[in-house]
Amino acid sequence: MQTILVRVNLDIEGEVSENALRLKDALKTVKSLSKSTNKIVLLSHRGRPKGYDPKLSLEPLKEVLEKHLRRRITFFTQFDFPKIKKTIEQAPAGSIFLLENLRFLPGETKNSLSLAKKLASLGGWYINDDFATSHHANASNVALPKLLPHRVGPILKKEVDILRNVMKKPARPLVLIVGGAKASDKLKVIKHLLKKVDYVLLAGGPGNTALRAKGMNVKKSIHEPKMIKEVKKLLKSDKIIAPLDWLEYQGSIVDIGPKTIERYSEIVKKAKTIIWGGPLGAFEDPKFRAGSEAIAREVALGKAFTVVGGGETTELILQLGLENEVDLLSSGGGAMLAFLAGEKLPALETLGLQNE
Ligand code: 3PG
Repeated sequence: MQTILVRVNLDIEGEVSENALRLKDALKTVKSLSKSTNKIVLLSHRGRPKGYDPKLSLEPLKEVLEKHLRRRITFFTQFDFPKIKKTIEQAPAGSIFLLENLRFLPGETKNSLSLAKKLASLGGWYINDDFATSHHANASNVALPKLLPHRVGPILKKEVDILRNVMKKPARPLVLIVGGAKASDKLKVIKHLLKKVDYVLLAGGPGNTALRAKGMNVKKSIHEPKMIKEVKKLLKSDKIIAPLDWLEYQGSIVDIGPKTIERYSEIVKKAKTIIWGGPLGAFEDPKFRAGSEAIAREVALGKAFTVVGGGETTELILQLGLENEVDLLSSGGGAMLAFLAGEKLPALETLGLQNE
């Protein structure tokens, strides 16, 4: 009997939706392991907290996981490692445990060895099945696997295998759609992807940053002021298209407008390969999802080879019941784009997957 530490991705925004790909993936991971008598300790982060933040607790995920697994899960609210270790040791074979959001600890995003050692003390094996965080060197995906015998999780392996083939000889035109709230990771990789793609359609945080770089007042809209200079350079390429019109609500851009939907749809219709990371507006509010929904339908119902990545974008596809029309749903947003751009992803390097 072994205790296996399993890095999954329960980074689900807002209210936990049962339609979240990351939840479905985590359930598959746990089911594949819980056939044995092993004890499983689930590790994840949620959001980008600065210290403890009850809104980003993993506790609601424990309940959803329990419901779907029909198994009891012990959730640790505190990072009292000696106590956690004792509880795990005393639990019966086959028990499942979930630690609180690792990003409540400053060491997680600092790839702290001391945190990794504490985590390693809880088990004898480590499995990483979280592709979506691979572009970050964190304690739970870089320092920790170096301390324990480790394996690559089946879902992470499958995502990497498919993504590795996407850029080999893509059918053209190759269209990249980049939206969502997390703009900086995505904007950083567009430069590298520019050589490989025919069009880049921007929206969300990356789109707002482009509008600001073009001199528009984006008011309270999510954007990356630090990236303006870089984005100005990117906009010199006529492959990059920023929104032509948009919907504004309380000083924030919340969706692309009808002209943009029309223009982006025309380009998507001609595409032979589409890579999409990040919704085109605040789609979680039905009033602001017209753009994301229209483009999702064009992407899914066309004939192109389609890869859709990221927590929110995949959730949109699942909500619309379009999952069977898409060739790959990737759990990773920023990670997927970084991988496709040819970057070295620290967690994959640690697992020995990057140089294949
Ligand atoms: C994601 O949402 O892309 C992953 O969960 C990683 O999260 P992060 O970009 O907030 O680090």
